[in-house]
Amino acid sequence: MASPVVAVREMTLEDLPAVMEVDGRCMSAPWSAGVWRGELASPLGLHLVAEVEGRVVAQIGTKRILDELHVTTLAVLPEHRRHGLGRALLRAALERTEGARRVVLEVRSRNEGAILFYRSLGFAAVGTRPRYYGDDDALVMSLDVSPQEERF
Ligand SMILES: CC(C)(COP(=O)(O)OP(=O)(O)OC[C@H]1O[C@@H](n2cnc3c(N)ncnc32)[C@H](O)[C@@H]1OP(=O)(O)O)[C@@H](O)C(=O)NCCC(=O)NCCS
Repeated sequence: MASPVVAVREMTLEDLPAVMEVDGRCMSAPWSAGVWRGELASPLGLHLVAEVEGRVVAQIGTKRILDELHVTTLAVLPEHRRHGLGRALLRAALERTEGARRVVLEVRSRNEGAILFYRSLGFAAVGTRPRYYGDDDALVMSLDVSPQEERF
Protein backbone atom coordinates (compact mmCIF):
# COMPACT_ATOMS: atom_id res chain seq x y z
CA MET A 1 0.00 0.00 0.00
CA ALA A 2 1.30 3.50 -0.84
CA SER A 3 2.37 5.67 2.14
CA PRO A 4 -0.12 8.43 3.00
CA VAL A 5 0.80 11.95 1.89
CA VAL A 6 2.14 13.93 4.83
CA ALA A 7 2.30 17.73 4.77
CA VAL A 8 4.16 19.76 7.38
CA ARG A 9 3.20 23.43 7.71
CA GLU A 10 3.07 26.25 10.24
CA MET A 11 0.27 26.11 12.79
CA THR A 12 -2.35 28.87 12.72
CA LEU A 13 -5.01 29.89 15.27
CA GLU A 14 -7.58 28.08 13.09
CA ASP A 15 -5.73 24.82 13.81
CA LEU A 16 -6.25 25.12 17.58
CA PRO A 17 -9.34 22.86 17.85
CA ALA A 18 -7.57 20.07 15.92
CA VAL A 19 -4.28 20.61 17.74
CA MET A 20 -6.01 20.54 21.12
CA GLU A 21 -7.72 17.30 20.15
CA VAL A 22 -4.31 15.78 19.32
CA ASP A 23 -2.97 17.03 22.64
CA GLY A 24 -5.97 15.74 24.54
CA ARG A 25 -5.32 12.23 23.22
CA CYS A 26 -1.54 12.32 23.72
CA MET A 27 -0.61 14.41 26.75
CA SER A 28 -1.18 13.82 30.44
CA ALA A 29 -1.52 17.60 30.96
CA PRO A 30 -2.73 19.10 27.66
CA TRP A 31 -2.40 22.85 27.22
CA SER A 32 -5.50 25.06 27.52
CA ALA A 33 -6.58 27.31 24.64
CA GLY A 34 -5.13 30.26 26.60
CA VAL A 35 -1.71 28.64 26.87
CA TRP A 36 -1.76 27.76 23.17
CA ARG A 37 -2.70 31.31 22.20
CA GLY A 38 0.10 32.70 24.35
CA GLU A 39 2.63 30.31 22.84
CA LEU A 40 1.51 31.07 19.28
CA ALA A 41 1.89 34.80 19.98
CA SER A 42 5.48 34.43 21.20
CA PRO A 43 8.00 35.99 18.80
CA LEU A 44 10.49 33.26 19.76
CA GLY A 45 8.06 30.45 19.00
CA LEU A 46 7.72 28.14 16.01
CA HIS A 47 4.75 25.76 15.84
CA LEU A 48 4.18 23.22 13.10
CA VAL A 49 1.51 20.66 12.32
CA ALA A 50 1.67 17.48 10.27
CA GLU A 51 -1.38 16.65 8.19
CA VAL A 52 -2.29 13.29 6.72
CA GLU A 53 -4.96 13.50 4.02
CA GLY A 54 -5.79 17.03 5.15
CA ARG A 55 -6.25 16.15 8.83
CA VAL A 56 -3.96 17.42 11.60
CA VAL A 57 -2.46 14.34 13.26
CA ALA A 58 0.64 15.73 14.97
CA GLN A 59 2.13 18.96 16.26
CA ILE A 60 5.40 20.41 17.52
CA GLY A 61 6.13 23.61 19.43
CA THR A 62 9.58 25.11 19.80
CA LYS A 63 11.17 28.26 21.16
CA ARG A 64 14.51 29.62 20.07
CA ILE A 65 16.59 30.91 22.97
CA LEU A 66 19.94 32.23 21.76
CA ASP A 67 21.54 29.30 19.92
CA GLU A 68 19.28 26.69 21.52
CA LEU A 69 16.07 25.31 20.08
CA HIS A 70 13.80 24.30 22.98
CA VAL A 71 11.10 21.77 22.21
CA THR A 72 8.07 22.84 24.25
CA THR A 73 5.58 20.27 22.97
CA LEU A 74 5.49 17.33 20.56
CA ALA A 75 2.62 14.92 20.00
CA VAL A 76 1.59 12.41 17.35
CA LEU A 77 -1.84 10.71 17.43
CA PRO A 78 -1.43 7.09 18.59
CA GLU A 79 -2.66 5.61 15.28
CA HIS A 80 -0.03 7.62 13.35
CA ARG A 81 2.99 6.77 15.53
CA ARG A 82 6.09 4.91 14.32
CA HIS A 83 5.69 6.34 10.79
CA GLY A 84 8.44 8.93 11.16
CA LEU A 85 6.16 11.91 11.90
CA GLY A 86 7.81 12.84 15.20
CA ARG A 87 11.23 12.80 13.59
CA ALA A 88 9.93 14.72 10.53
CA LEU A 89 8.44 17.47 12.73
CA LEU A 90 11.62 17.85 14.74
CA ARG A 91 13.69 17.99 11.58
CA ALA A 92 11.33 20.54 10.00
CA ALA A 93 11.52 22.77 13.10
CA LEU A 94 15.31 22.61 13.04
CA GLU A 95 15.44 23.40 9.33
CA ARG A 96 13.30 26.49 9.92
CA THR A 97 15.48 27.75 12.80
CA GLU A 98 18.60 29.56 11.71
CA GLY A 99 21.69 29.32 13.86
CA ALA A 100 20.54 26.63 16.28
CA ARG A 101 23.52 24.76 17.70
CA ARG A 102 21.66 22.60 20.18
CA VAL A 103 18.19 21.13 20.68
CA VAL A 104 17.04 20.95 24.31
CA LEU A 105 13.91 19.59 25.94
CA GLU A 106 12.36 18.27 29.13
CA VAL A 107 10.58 14.95 29.16
CA ARG A 108 8.80 13.10 31.97
CA SER A 109 11.22 10.62 33.50
CA ARG A 110 8.52 7.91 33.26
CA ASN A 111 7.75 8.61 29.57
CA GLU A 112 9.79 5.68 28.31
CA GLY A 113 8.48 5.82 24.70
CA ALA A 114 9.40 9.49 24.26
CA ILE A 115 12.81 8.99 25.90
CA LEU A 116 13.54 6.10 23.51
CA PHE A 117 12.35 8.28 20.62
CA TYR A 118 14.75 11.11 21.55
CA ARG A 119 17.60 8.68 22.18
CA SER A 120 17.06 7.15 18.73
CA LEU A 121 17.68 10.62 17.26
CA GLY A 122 20.94 11.00 19.17
CA PHE A 123 19.73 12.99 22.20
CA ALA A 124 21.51 12.36 25.50
CA ALA A 125 20.23 12.93 29.03
CA VAL A 126 22.13 15.88 30.51
CA GLY A 127 20.30 16.39 33.80
CA THR A 128 17.13 16.01 35.83
CA ARG A 129 14.72 18.52 37.35
CA PRO A 130 13.19 16.90 40.45
CA ARG A 131 9.35 17.05 40.59
CA TYR A 132 9.28 19.39 37.56
CA TYR A 133 5.85 17.97 36.66
CA GLY A 134 4.67 17.79 40.27
CA ASP A 135 4.08 14.04 40.15
CA ASP A 136 7.20 13.23 38.09
CA ASP A 137 10.76 14.39 37.51
CA ALA A 138 11.91 15.86 34.19
CA LEU A 139 14.81 14.44 32.30
CA VAL A 140 16.65 17.20 30.42
CA MET A 141 17.80 15.91 27.04
CA SER A 142 20.07 17.64 24.56
CA LEU A 143 21.46 17.17 21.07
CA ASP A 144 24.25 19.23 19.53
CA VAL A 145 23.56 20.07 15.90
CA SER A 146 25.82 21.51 13.26
CA PRO A 147 24.41 23.57 10.38
CA GLN A 148 26.38 21.50 7.84
CA GLU A 149 25.25 18.13 9.06
CA GLU A 150 21.93 16.34 8.87
CA ARG A 151 21.66 14.75 12.31
CA PHE A 152 18.50 12.65 11.96
C1 LIG B 1 7.20 10.49 21.27
C2 LIG B 1 6.40 10.64 19.98
C3 LIG B 1 6.23 12.12 19.62
C4 LIG B 1 7.15 9.91 18.84
O1 LIG B 1 6.47 10.14 17.62
P1 LIG B 1 6.52 9.10 16.39
O2 LIG B 1 5.97 9.78 15.20
O3 LIG B 1 5.90 7.81 16.78
O4 LIG B 1 8.10 8.87 16.24
P2 LIG B 1 8.87 8.38 14.92
O5 LIG B 1 7.97 7.47 14.12
O6 LIG B 1 9.43 9.57 14.21
O7 LIG B 1 10.03 7.53 15.59
C5 LIG B 1 11.39 7.61 15.19
C6 LIG B 1 12.17 6.55 15.95
O8 LIG B 1 12.10 6.80 17.37
C7 LIG B 1 12.06 5.55 18.08
N1 LIG B 1 10.79 5.45 18.80
C8 LIG B 1 9.68 6.22 18.64
N2 LIG B 1 8.72 5.86 19.52
C9 LIG B 1 9.23 4.84 20.24
C10 LIG B 1 8.71 4.03 21.31
N3 LIG B 1 7.46 4.22 21.79
N4 LIG B 1 9.50 3.04 21.80
C11 LIG B 1 10.75 2.84 21.32
N5 LIG B 1 11.30 3.59 20.31
C12 LIG B 1 10.55 4.56 19.79
C13 LIG B 1 12.19 4.45 17.03
O9 LIG B 1 13.57 4.17 16.86
C14 LIG B 1 11.62 5.14 15.79
O10 LIG B 1 12.08 4.57 14.59
P3 LIG B 1 11.38 3.19 14.03
O11 LIG B 1 9.90 3.38 14.15
O12 LIG B 1 11.88 3.13 12.61
O13 LIG B 1 11.90 2.09 14.92
C15 LIG B 1 5.00 9.96 20.13
O14 LIG B 1 5.17 8.66 20.66
C16 LIG B 1 4.02 10.71 21.03
O15 LIG B 1 3.29 11.60 20.58
N6 LIG B 1 4.00 10.36 22.32
C17 LIG B 1 3.03 10.97 23.28
C18 LIG B 1 3.37 12.41 23.55
C19 LIG B 1 4.77 12.57 24.10
O16 LIG B 1 5.22 11.80 24.93
N7 LIG B 1 5.45 13.61 23.60
C20 LIG B 1 6.81 13.94 24.00
C21 LIG B 1 6.75 14.94 25.10
S1 LIG B 1 8.40 15.48 25.53
